Amino acid sequence: MIHKHDVIIVGAGLAGLRAAVELADKADIAVLSKVFPTRSHSGAAQGGIAAALGNEEEDHIEWHIFDTVKGSDYLGDQDAIEMMINEAPEVIYELEHMGVPFSRTRDGRIAQRQFGGHTRPIIGPDGKETRVAIQRACYAADRTGHVILHTLYEQCVKHKVHFYSEFYVMSLIIKDDICRGVVAFDLKTGEVHTFHAKAVMFGTGGYGRAWKITSNAYSNTGDGVAIAFRAGIPLEDMEFVQFHPTGLWKLGILVTEGARGEGGYLRNRYGERFMQKYAPTVMELAPRDLVTRSITTEILEGRGIDGKDYVHLDLTHVGEATLKERLPEIIGFAKTYVGVDPVKAPIPIQPTAHYSMGGIPTSLYGEVLLDEKGKILTGFYAAGECACVSVHGANRLGTNSLLDAVVHGRRTGKQIAKFLQTAEFSDLPVNADEDVKKRIDELFNSTDSKESYHKIKDTLRENMMVKAGVFRNEKDLKEMKDIILDLRHRYKNVGLRDKSKNFNTELMEVLELGNLLEFSDVIVEGAIARQECRGAHWRTDFPKRDDQNWMKHTFAFRTEKGIELRYKPVTVTKYQPQERKY
Ligand code: FUM
Repeated sequence: MIHKHDVIIVGAGLAGLRAAVELADKADIAVLSKVFPTRSHSGAAQGGIAAALGNEEEDHIEWHIFDTVKGSDYLGDQDAIEMMINEAPEVIYELEHMGVPFSRTRDGRIAQRQFGGHTRPIIGPDGKETRVAIQRACYAADRTGHVILHTLYEQCVKHKVHFYSEFYVMSLIIKDDICRGVVAFDLKTGEVHTFHAKAVMFGTGGYGRAWKITSNAYSNTGDGVAIAFRAGIPLEDMEFVQFHPTGLWKLGILVTEGARGEGGYLRNRYGERFMQKYAPTVMELAPRDLVTRSITTEILEGRGIDGKDYVHLDLTHVGEATLKERLPEIIGFAKTYVGVDPVKAPIPIQPTAHYSMGGIPTSLYGEVLLDEKGKILTGFYAAGECACVSVHGANRLGTNSLLDAVVHGRRTGKQIAKFLQTAEFSDLPVNADEDVKKRIDELFNSTDSKESYHKIKDTLRENMMVKAGVFRNEKDLKEMKDIILDLRHRYKNVGLRDKSKNFNTELMEVLELGNLLEFSDVIVEGAIARQECRGAHWRTDFPKRDDQNWMKHTFAFRTEKGIELRYKPVTVTKYQPQERKY
């Protein structure tokens, strides 16, 4: 079956829906999503969305820019960061006017809370400037992503955006460097559909499911990045994957940084607030890379609770009324999943794979790049977590992700609207869906599987946790590379046990596993090559940041001989790299 729309947006999270709202009255838009739109993972974002509104205390856009550059460990492109932060207040007010129910200050303005790495300068008693935490995260209790997602979805429905829910995209249709559509299968029926478009945008989200402990939804299997990579598009800075400091122990479910923003403490087995040692000025409100390494160090050195692999997030002093008003979901999660009432007892937490700084390289306007020199692929766009602009560099600050998704979703929507003023439908290649049909048939016709996809997936996720996690070294990474090679080999023998056409989730999981293996290889390759510590990429065998050799972005290309790495310099406008101290 062939469908024709001006624009196909793949992914119904914040980036995809914000672009759809921008384009809705200008063109025929369709959004494809492998889950029902309001189940998209943006809805799991809890603590806030950053903007220097200054509603609670003095704040300035320049302070937010500086924090983001410093937080990125100077790998973020400063022109891109400036553009995003400058647009932040406007996009927040737009969201407010669309109906997002933000929490409020006493005088009715949007409430803001503290978050890691967001600071303001003060002059200390010694006359020197130091930086302390600032209230910059606009929030709706601890459901910020959820309410923005629902509001944008309502706007899409109001503006008659066409949704194809539970459609799983498997490939891009590209010919002569022009993107012409996508091929997907309908989960409900198992039928393959071709979508012909003038422009395609990916807002397909991240890929935390490659690690055993993750805050990411089951759906976050990096399909978008893997599809793009297979289609000949490079991937940028994939070695930078953020571990959020506070996931529920063993489960990885997010416990918002907003909990520390509301005054929560991190304590080790001796009850010590150990962040004193690692970030004496901002303590628990240091950026994520630093807090995660501090927790992991406490655990590795035997100071986890009872010597185990977790520490405590203590909210007992914050007070029941504040917790109920500002962190109601966290109270519920802690009670439901670990049997702890945070009003009365500390929550057991451990770092959890959370966010991908790297992804599909784009221009400042969401246009997908074909190489490190900036060649653009006509008709293909990406925004949000699947994309790398790069505004987060080596480490994203909390609450800058929703901002990235909304700012770049909106800007990409505007860019596509410009493109549509002159764009025509390019011809579909004959048999555009042939490869997808062949792959699905191959799986349906497979005999009883010799290999279990579950075992391959578990082996990948367990090993990525240990060998390509918070701390890395060459030996582990090279072992991980060999493990992936072996798993990819075994993956060729995976077949389907379930041969039904309707809602065949086994089929989808097998295909997702192919994607997990594809991009994990790229992450490990980039991590082996980058011989330095920067942000979330921490090499114990190269324990320093190396600005001389590594102020550059990694571009990974899929070639017949394997992955080829090339590099692109970081854009620096105002802020020369300095040592990061908090
Ligand atoms: O901690 C959090 O609420 C997560 C926010 C984010 O990743 O930006």
